Amino acid sequence: MRATHAGFNSAFVYSALALALVPGFGLAVGLAMHLAFGWSLGRWWPVVVQIHGHAQVFGWLALFIMGVSLFFLPRFSGVPLRFPSLPRWICALLVLGILSRSIALFWFNAASAPAARGLFGFSALLEIAAIWLYVALIYLSIRRAESRHKAIRAVRPYLAGALLGWVLCGAVVGISAVLAAWSTGALFDQGWNLLGIDFFTGLVLLPVAFAFSIRTFPLYLRLPAARWPVRLFAMLYFAAFALEIIPVAVGLVDFPLGVRLQTVHALGRLCKGVLLLALIWHLDLLTRSKSPWTAGREGDPPAVPRLHPVPRSHFPDYGEFGHFEWPVYMAYIWLLAAGLCEIYSAVALLSGAFIAFDASVLRHMYLGGFGTLLLLGMAPRMVPGFLGIRHLAYPRLVALSFYLGGSAMLFRVLPYLLSFAPTALPSRLATHLFGLSGVLGFLAVAVLAVNLWTSMHRPRGLKTSD
Ligand code: HEM
Repeated sequence: MRATHAGFNSAFVYSALALALVPGFGLAVGLAMHLAFGWSLGRWWPVVVQIHGHAQVFGWLALFIMGVSLFFLPRFSGVPLRFPSLPRWICALLVLGILSRSIALFWFNAASAPAARGLFGFSALLEIAAIWLYVALIYLSIRRAESRHKAIRAVRPYLAGALLGWVLCGAVVGISAVLAAWSTGALFDQGWNLLGIDFFTGLVLLPVAFAFSIRTFPLYLRLPAARWPVRLFAMLYFAAFALEIIPVAVGLVDFPLGVRLQTVHALGRLCKGVLLLALIWHLDLLTRSKSPWTAGREGDPPAVPRLHPVPRSHFPDYGEFGHFEWPVYMAYIWLLAAGLCEIYSAVALLSGAFIAFDASVLRHMYLGGFGTLLLLGMAPRMVPGFLGIRHLAYPRLVALSFYLGGSAMLFRVLPYLLSFAPTALPSRLATHLFGLSGVLGFLAVAVLAVNLWTSMHRPRGLKTSD
């Protein structure tokens, strides 16, 4: 008997888009203008940075990942979600947590009111509850899956690592915020905050993206099926990440990284960088040097003429989801660049001959270049399908959000990259382009939001047949 699965909860998508537009990219506009054009944010700068980073990570990326995984994983594993009404509570708790945290930070900065501390601690409890409920729900649902179920077996280690990542980033960001609210000092500890974000990047975003890429890219992008040691790769990746991150965590509780810990950290980054390059090679997305999984399965040409139009070359679709592959390719180019920067930084740390790549720029390469562009490509490809919609309202807008999002991320890192250039001239231009990067990122997400919203709210007949 076939399992009956819960439908897709679009509240995750709407909330992610709203948080990206207002506190996420909305505030990035101010941050970029502050640095590029001197429109000073004054004493609001650290608060705005905090709210922007938190909303982008736990609003934009995390809510999207949660919504898609709560729909996809039960189907992958062949067992329905345990408590189908829980996702809406998870979404509400996380959104409330992010909003109340933002308000508490503004309030505290304006008036140092003790009540703002209380709100900050409360917001952290809401976020911990949302994240841990999500982890419990996924675990309780898919642990009953038949372990030989083909679709889930290969990527199980990635999902297990991601669940651990959720627990850790929820604990680090949430508990450090509760403790800060309890104390009389600063309202947040930047070291722990960034550690939580790094846990999210290394243990949630990347493994989940890898698992989805391995499982779905052959289908959506006509790539080869994964015939390489996928599970072994996951183990090696997590081992490399552990080497990288444990010394950082130890440095936070103890004292600044000693020489040995720094070497371990650098070796972890070296291995991680090499593994990222290996993964990109195996996925064959950028190289397209291997036969797609469909090779040899085409069979004889149909005896009667086709009723459907011919699919796009290399893709199974007819263009009804636009050029969704462009942002996906770009995302993996960013991942490639991030892998090379990890290797560069590792060599810098091991040799001491030059300085490592800037950590904030590298963070933006993972979260903005890789994570955001992947969403700009996969959301218009997958979300309509989850809701039974066969055609985007405006397929051409996918290319527009790619141009906007791609240039936003490029301009975000350009000044840093050009700081290596010998003359100051291109740097001045790059600073102005950097000033526009927030607006461009905002527009990219706004275009995606309009496209998804219109596709979801068209009259029923238009959703499936035109
Ligand atoms: C193109 C648009 C963007 C601009 C102009 C921008 C700008 C900035 C600036 C100026 C900072 C503070 C200084 C620094 O750490 O470099 C910052 C921090 C941060 N940004 Fe962005 N950003 C953008 C996009 C994104 C995206 C898409 C994400 C994640 C999906 C993101 C996540 C973060 C995080 C996690 C921090 C650190 C926050 C903290 O220190 O607590 N940013 N951003």
